[in-house]
Amino acid sequence: MLKLNTAIRNRRSPRAIANKIVTKEMIMLLFEAARWAPSAMNEQPWNYFWVHRDNKNKFEEVLNLLTGINPEWAKNAQAIIISVARKNYEYNNKQNRNALHDTGAANFSIAVQATEMGLQVRQMGGYDRQKAAEYFKLGTEKYELATFIAVGFQGEPEQLPEELKIRELQPRVRKEINEFVKEL
Ligand SMILES: Cc1cc2nc3c(=O)[nH]c(=O)nc-3n(C[C@H](O)[C@H](O)[C@H](O)COP(=O)(O)O)c2cc1C
Repeated sequence: MLKLNTAIRNRRSPRAIANKIVTKEMIMLLFEAARWAPSAMNEQPWNYFWVHRDNKNKFEEVLNLLTGINPEWAKNAQAIIISVARKNYEYNNKQNRNALHDTGAANFSIAVQATEMGLQVRQMGGYDRQKAAEYFKLGTEKYELATFIAVGFQGEPEQLPEELKIRELQPRVRKEINEFVKEL
């Protein structure tokens, strides 16, 4: 019987993150998954910063780059990964139009590997881009920030503030295949 890949089926992006340790070894395995993502010209344009919650000061500084309600739940992450796309090809320094696409592929590879390990991640586009570029000393002509990625084991919705708890308990919805696919 044809069936959906188990990690794809079980992956989700929880805001509720358990108070359960994620080790550096686990994080490194997530990066190993990123390493094997496909990319245009095998350029591998993804770059990552990451911080573990044990590194209290730096973790706090990274949380401060997040916007909106993100810091409210992401403060419980075990680690935060910051994904960055290198905008130009290394071999000729010309613009790589696939850089962000391929960084997204590597990020999804991280998400699927996390699920395989019993972990989950939640990506965030909600951060202050200017502050973050300055914090990571990224020249915007060379690099484009992609997403911040909160990592942890899934927690209980009850641990979230009421507003987020309601959102966390909403059913996950998706478009039907025929809404986004056309056979020629
Ligand atoms: C590029 C990107 C940016 C996102 N930004 C945020 C964000 O800033 N805050 C947040 O809580 N979730 C964010 N999300 C998570 C999405 O809301 C979530 O993936 C979507 O609702 C589908 O839920 P699921 O991943 O559990 O299937 C982001 C996801 C992606 C891929």
